[in-house]
Amino acid sequence: MTPEVTKRQSKQKKKKPSPMYKLGSKLKDRATGRKEMVWAGITGIGSYVPPKVLTNDDLSKMVDTTDEWIVARTGISERHIAADTVLTSDLAVRAAKKALKSAGKNPEDVDMIIVTSASPDQIWPSTACHVQAKLGAVNASAFDLQAACAGFVYALTVGSQFVETRRAECVLVIGAETISRLVDWTDRGTCVLFGDAAGAVVLERVEFGYGFMASFTGADGTGADLLEVPADDKFIKMNGNEVYKFAARVSLDAATKALKQAGLHREDVDFFVPHQANARITEAAAKRLKLPPEKVVSNIVNYGNTSTASIPLALDELWRSGRLKYGNIVLTVGFGAGLTWGANVIRWAKKS
Ligand code: UT7
Repeated sequence: MTPEVTKRQSKQKKKKPSPMYKLGSKLKDRATGRKEMVWAGITGIGSYVPPKVLTNDDLSKMVDTTDEWIVARTGISERHIAADTVLTSDLAVRAAKKALKSAGKNPEDVDMIIVTSASPDQIWPSTACHVQAKLGAVNASAFDLQAACAGFVYALTVGSQFVETRRAECVLVIGAETISRLVDWTDRGTCVLFGDAAGAVVLERVEFGYGFMASFTGADGTGADLLEVPADDKFIKMNGNEVYKFAARVSLDAATKALKQAGLHREDVDFFVPHQANARITEAAAKRLKLPPEKVVSNIVNYGNTSTASIPLALDELWRSGRLKYGNIVLTVGFGAGLTWGANVIRWAKKS
């Protein structure tokens, strides 16, 4: 934690305690009888992208588009595409193994697996059950959570609460996509955007005041037709302009609400890790939040929009870069079909 943040937060805490602190002061730890609440945090992280790369120049041979147009309108240069034989659960397992290793955990230690995906292996059983079997996580319950591209923010919100309420000690949250299979490769308005990937985190109890400080989720089903895979179709249909406006609007709204819930201000944020849908949306959101470029994590150039995987993939790259330090405040923001959106405020608890 930076000295400035410590100073500012201790002042805020005295003036107006956040709901979490208020709640924490009233709750007793069931095991010890002491007045303290359990804080859940990220203790391990990993990601995986399939090796095959599809560049903008490759796409310009498939549809009427150019590298210049794609870079200028989206910030994307290339994306990764899973081989035909590879399933979403396969990508998920690769990322999960790395996350477990980074947390120092074995598959048998996992109590719960939550997979969020806009491109699951099949309608049912859940992709999470396939992941459970492939990992050998024999003690874990498993379920999928569907909130399209906002899925990872939703899944963190749900998973962290199982740890905070002691219903689980070790929760594996995975965002994984073979979304390229839902892409109409003749539709230049959507096929240039998406890519395949997976990212995973391990959630466990962390020290008091660290980890998840606040989470906010929202939905508006009246916008369902703006971005969907219609029931009688198999490809993504999107009203790009309307989704763009929605994304820019809710990013600010979700971030502001989550920060307020955490008792923090915009300037307390060390890293902004938004869903990577379009570099212009990320820039617009960062500008509205008055966050300088060095605090904004953007890796869409190499991966495109990987839906539920984009936030853990960006977070993992940030972690591996060595820039993310113990005590840093991370703000995630997700948005997508549904319409759905949300944000998490996380004080990074993983020791470096
Ligand atoms: O994760 C889920 C959330 N999804 C999103 O957040 C996506 C949000 N939307 C967007 O990112 C943008 O709306 C797009 C990148 C999809 C489109 O960018 P835009 O600046 O909104 O372009 P536009 O749809 O207004 O189209 C401008 C022009 C049109 O041509 P005319 O009508 O002006 O002649 C399009 O036909 O660009 C044309 N166009 C293209 N040209 C070359 C559309 N796609 C392409 C393309 N290459 N790939």
